[in-house]
Amino acid sequence: MADKKIYLSSPTMHGEEQEFIREAFDTNWVAPLGPNVNAFEKELADYVGIAHASALSAGTAAIHLALRVLGIGEGDVVFVPSLTFSATCNPVVYEKATPVFIDSETDTWNMDPEALKRGFEIYPNPKAVIVVHLYGTPAKLDEIIEICDEHGVPLIEDAAESLSSTYKGKHTGTFGKIGIYSFNGNKIITTSGGGMLVSKEEEITQKATFLATQARDAARHYQHSQIGYNYRMSNITAGIGRGQLLHLEEHKALKKEIYKQYKEAFADIPEIGLNPLNKDGDANCWLTGMIIKEGCPVTPDNIMDALADHNIESRPVWKPMHLQPVFAECDFVTAKGSKGKGNQGADVAADVFNRGLCLPSDIKNTKEDMELIIRIIRGCFGR
Ligand SMILES: Cc1ncc(COP(=O)(O)O)c(C=O)c1O
Repeated sequence: MADKKIYLSSPTMHGEEQEFIREAFDTNWVAPLGPNVNAFEKELADYVGIAHASALSAGTAAIHLALRVLGIGEGDVVFVPSLTFSATCNPVVYEKATPVFIDSETDTWNMDPEALKRGFEIYPNPKAVIVVHLYGTPAKLDEIIEICDEHGVPLIEDAAESLSSTYKGKHTGTFGKIGIYSFNGNKIITTSGGGMLVSKEEEITQKATFLATQARDAARHYQHSQIGYNYRMSNITAGIGRGQLLHLEEHKALKKEIYKQYKEAFADIPEIGLNPLNKDGDANCWLTGMIIKEGCPVTPDNIMDALADHNIESRPVWKPMHLQPVFAECDFVTAKGSKGKGNQGADVAADVFNRGLCLPSDIKNTKEDMELIIRIIRGCFGR
């Protein structure tokens, strides 16, 4: 096995991060509040073009608080795409609400507007819709927003993977009533762990920050009228974020270049496709996904094994939530019908999972690393 490990997507630090951290140490702002937290909120909000932001300990915490702020509670139905990471829907269950999983479409792999429409027919009163921009590719936002508006249901944008991606020139995360970002270690920029909740409405981010700091009422003594959380981002973590934000556009350009290199390298192999990019968007290409043509004997496992033999990390596409044991009781809606109604129809999410995988998309990959990865994958197809 080769000594050097090639990663799927690992942190890329630049040096400015340490300057912000040093300043925090020098001024003894080593706390879950402080100037870096306030500045990171403002800088991120300015970057994506939204008025308000609340810096939190994780993207998952941000989704949880989005649901809390919207008053989602026991028994409420929330529409969530099936093809996503479990963090999108776990907070729905924290609040004892019911996730109903919506299938993907094939143009972007994201929530299918047709399946969403069907979802509203079967469940006429959901309390929220969560859309995800998978692997950084914007979902069909125009269609999804139109459906949500028609029913007066708030949209939460899980833009954990799509920070810096735009749809029709506007940043993902800024379309919904609430948007969330993640700064987990593998994301396009990282704070080691962290998240942000954004909104046009100050009342929403203020409420999120209040809940994130144990819901302390305005009183001298410790008084609480609501249940709160310890979800605030620390001043040290926010310092890393400020340094990373300076390099976000550069990271995006490098990620897009990786997608382009794979596209060119496999152009002559009809059995290989890449994750489709929304024609109305500019994706950050956080991870390049690959999909093997139906009927081809090569499997995603064959490719992942061949790469692993060379100490190269890759991974399956997210296993759809409706196929997860923990969500076996939840309904799954496609454009044709639903599992609960016994007429589910074709399952795009499962098909993408069965034929897809995520390719190494680390922006520190050298030209030689990329050549090696491409050679190994081409070899799996006898090229
Ligand atoms: C789609 C999606 N949603 C939510 C999350 C959760 O973010 P975090 O890890 O910051 O809690 C992640 C990533 O981890 C994600 O990929």
